Amino acid sequence: MKKFIGTKKIKTAVFISGKGSNLRNLIKFSKTKISPISIVLIISNTKKAKGLKYSNKYNIKKKIINFTNSKFFEKNFINFLNKKKIKLICLAGYMKILSSDFIKNFNGKIINIHPSLLPKYKGINTHKKAINNNEKFSGCTVHYVSSKLDSGRIIMQKKIKISKKETHKSLAKKVLKKEHELYPAAIMKIFS
Ligand code: GRF
Repeated sequence: MKKFIGTKKIKTAVFISGKGSNLRNLIKFSKTKISPISIVLIISNTKKAKGLKYSNKYNIKKKIINFTNSKFFEKNFINFLNKKKIKLICLAGYMKILSSDFIKNFNGKIINIHPSLLPKYKGINTHKKAINNNEKFSGCTVHYVSSKLDSGRIIMQKKIKISKKETHKSLAKKVLKKEHELYPAAIMKIFS
């Protein structure tokens, strides 16, 4: 990916579907001096996403996109993102699968955070799967998005120990805390 040069920050869109704790964390990071990115757009596939509240709080434009399979719709959406000069898309708890055309259009510019040590436990219910498999460790991964689910090149990972009494809920909490460290670190790595 193109290196971050000079003082102009990279215009970034964050795609969410839920709570938005990663979004909030990325917004806070983006406001630091060392951040190469500036978050200018929040996209959600549902108006129910709690994270949309950060649009008002931090004065960042939001858009709710009713994703359909229509090529016309997708083309319009891509045009919209290009008009906004979006150069990086961060998926953060975004639960919809992007089409391979969309991914090709933003080739190498879409990254995702996933709550497992990929390539283990792609998809959903990662914490349940890790516990049911008696894993000793879990963690999180930031990776490039490719057309195969949770399979793009890994940028960075963080590992945590699963305790004997771990439940999927306590594990989710522990991993989420690590996600908040990992996502900014991975972005720094990409642009360093
Ligand atoms: C995170 O665990 C993320 O890795 C997963 O969904 C969760 C979203 O959390 N894909 P939040 O909406 O960022 O709080």
